Amino acid sequence: MKILGIETSCDETALCITEGFSVLGTSLFSQVKIHEKYGGVFPMLAKREHAKNLVPLFKNLLEKIDTATQTEFAGKTKTTRNQPADFTDAQKEFLEKMLEREPELLSAFLEYIPTIEKPNIDAIAVTYGPGLEPALWVGINFAKALGYIWNIPIIPINHMEGHIVSVLAGAQVTKTAITFPALALLISGGHTELVHILDWTKYEVIGQTRDDAVGEAFDKVARMLSLPYPGGPHIGELAGKERKERAEQNGGKKSDDDSEKNPFTFPRPMIHSNDFDFSFSGLKTSVLYKIKELGELTPKIKQQIACAFEDAVVEVLLEKTKKAIIKYGAKSLIVGGGVIANTKIRESFLGLSGLQVFIPDLSLATDNAVMIAMAGYINATKNPSVLKTDPKTIVAQGNLRL
Ligand code: KG4
Ligand code: ZN
Repeated sequence: MKILGIETSCDETALCITEGFSVLGTSLFSQVKIHEKYGGVFPMLAKREHAKNLVPLFKNLLEKIDTATQTEFAGKTKTTRNQPADFTDAQKEFLEKMLEREPELLSAFLEYIPTIEKPNIDAIAVTYGPGLEPALWVGINFAKALGYIWNIPIIPINHMEGHIVSVLAGAQVTKTAITFPALALLISGGHTELVHILDWTKYEVIGQTRDDAVGEAFDKVARMLSLPYPGGPHIGELAGKERKERAEQNGGKKSDDDSEKNPFTFPRPMIHSNDFDFSFSGLKTSVLYKIKELGELTPKIKQQIACAFEDAVVEVLLEKTKKAIIKYGAKSLIVGGGVIANTKIRESFLGLSGLQVFIPDLSLATDNAVMIAMAGYINATKNPSVLKTDPKTIVAQGNLRL
């Protein structure tokens, strides 16, 4: 089954085509540089960028796959190419209504889509939440427009399910390698959740953050240290540098206890609470107070703070996850979401013993379309009736839950 994946929930415009668990091609545009000056994602700007970029990215994706497979898999050009767009009046009317709030998308769509034949795609999987609603709508409307013109079913996908199944892409993991019950820890810019997985598509959130998400805490602490947006990766870099310097002082050996030589330690909020919830806002505030108290920050102090902050986060995440593994008798653990790109967090979770641990490739940790297509495939195989979803019922849901 060939699936076109579409992801526009935040600041990445991402498309891909997959076949089963293999990826035929991807095309992604990150808006990070555009939002950088605002220090965060600006929803209406994100929406406009998605609207501007979807069709060019789609064209690029089809051409890439054609080149890679030496076929006209997707983008077979019509012989009538030089003639005016050949949508019927009824089709045009439908599209104008469907894309009335995305004029940039409408004009690019009307210009390019009539010049190509229907690609070899069986379904379209699109993120419908959670995320920024104006941004989500662009992807949804693009999916609906393509689905309408080419008569392709649309599968609405929960972005968080995407982060869970991101570990399935590629050859290294087969669907059967993950045994149930499984547990997923999702750590992204907007979410921090522990999910009990009884089977594919059967998810139960057992704990979540009561305030900031982990990625959010990383980004806010980064801002306190005057690091560029989004700060998560920069914190990881500084902390990594600190750990390396410490290991060098230690004669090349990694210290057993990383926090041993750090002059700073920060609290581990809710680490011993009797539930699976998290809280990161107190940790963030504690870093802020420390920074205010110190005044001038040398590069070394910044490194030490980044490292101490990372230690606190890792310890809380590990402790809570271990407790959940025991309580739910989990046989597999999946860790997904942008923050799993962090080296220390990756290493710490891969070091867990007693169960199989699955972590996505680095390229699939942050937002992408492959995870959405994978979720589409899982849903279509588990429950074929999703292929009959009435497109009219697919609406953006900013606060969608698993
Ligand atoms: O999953 P994601 O791409 O988007 C959401 O769905 O939110 O996650 C983005 C988050 C941001 O907060 C970003 O700073 C964080 O993931 N992140 C990292 C790293 N790479 C991305 N945090 C820590 N270390 C990293 N290497
Ligand atoms: Zn995400």
